[in-house]
Amino acid sequence: MPITRRYNYSLRSHNTFGLDVKASQFITYDTVDELITILKEVCDKHQHILHIGCGSNLLFTKDFDGTVLHSNIKFIEYVSRSNQEIIVRAGSGVVWDDFCAAMAQQNHYGCENLSYIPGEVGAAAVQNIGAYGVEVETIIKEVETIEIATGQPRVFQVEECEYGYRDSIFKNSLKGQYIVTAVVFSLSATPVVNLDYGQLKDLRSLAQMPTAQEIRDAVIAIRKSKLPEPSQLGSAGSFFKNPVVPAELFRNLALSYNEIPHFVINESEVKIPAAWLIEQCGLKGKCYGGAAVYEKQPLIIVNKCHATPAHIMQLASLIQKSVRDKFNINIYPEVNYI
Ligand code: EPU
Repeated sequence: MPITRRYNYSLRSHNTFGLDVKASQFITYDTVDELITILKEVCDKHQHILHIGCGSNLLFTKDFDGTVLHSNIKFIEYVSRSNQEIIVRAGSGVVWDDFCAAMAQQNHYGCENLSYIPGEVGAAAVQNIGAYGVEVETIIKEVETIEIATGQPRVFQVEECEYGYRDSIFKNSLKGQYIVTAVVFSLSATPVVNLDYGQLKDLRSLAQMPTAQEIRDAVIAIRKSKLPEPSQLGSAGSFFKNPVVPAELFRNLALSYNEIPHFVINESEVKIPAAWLIEQCGLKGKCYGGAAVYEKQPLIIVNKCHATPAHIMQLASLIQKSVRDKFNINIYPEVNYI
């Protein structure tokens, strides 16, 4: 399909919250050359640009007065294969879990813990998606982009991407300046597994090292048991990041809550699950308008019944205030407000 353009277009099916907001213009493209053509056009007209994947980490706060772009660049190709390392290149519009499925099927290790995360390859590299002890930065080798202002290609080596916890250079100093067109991954042909996460530990007791497919199946089962299916209940996955707090604050809290779950980052910092903080505030199931705190995982806000952007924002503010008032800890959205 060539470039497609739609005007005054509902983004309901392009954000996993299922919010009925509109974009002045919505354009999809299949190739890098088409993207360059579109960028020239929208830059000449000085239009606002927003590039989205499948909208699984976005909160549209209102209609978008500008051009929303979506990549249909879909390919998965081998760059090189040895007995140890598999180098694979994938287009930005490939559905992330299709990529994980293809790799697991070939028994290439590296992305099986990241199975079933909603989204597309390009957005995964921007957001540094993570789950069950693995972050995508660990398998990224290069990120291929186009600079919006000039239409010039630029390849970022993984070291240049400034990856952090759900963070990258594309969300900070270079925000809104580059569009990811493809990602080059380095996977392992031999088992390199991470089974540290609670329910995945069971796989350690298997007589043989689990295959990538077995780990993928286990991850999918965990996700299905805890997280809402976007097609049935709108959400954007974890709404907040897990806060990293000073060790002293943590020690003080532990005096009152000796069961407080935590992850020591270093001598001076401790990460606390935001889900636990929110649950302690008694907010599981809390509703505001059509939005609600998900019962099974309170780090998730769901669109329970025709939620508006305002309902979700109000509920998020209420959660942040409750956690701050009770624990003196600030929690910040993982979801991008647009
Ligand atoms: N917890 C509670 N009550 C609950 C649920 C959880 O107290 O109802 C506590 C428990 O102590 C539990 C801890 O929170 O051990 C952690 O919960 P969970 O393992 O579900 O993970 P999370 O920290 O809430 C993060 C990611 C998820 C990822 C999981 C698994 C962030 C913001 N979220 O959630 O990623 O799937 O770990 O690795 O880091 C996403 O980014 O959208 C996402 C879903």
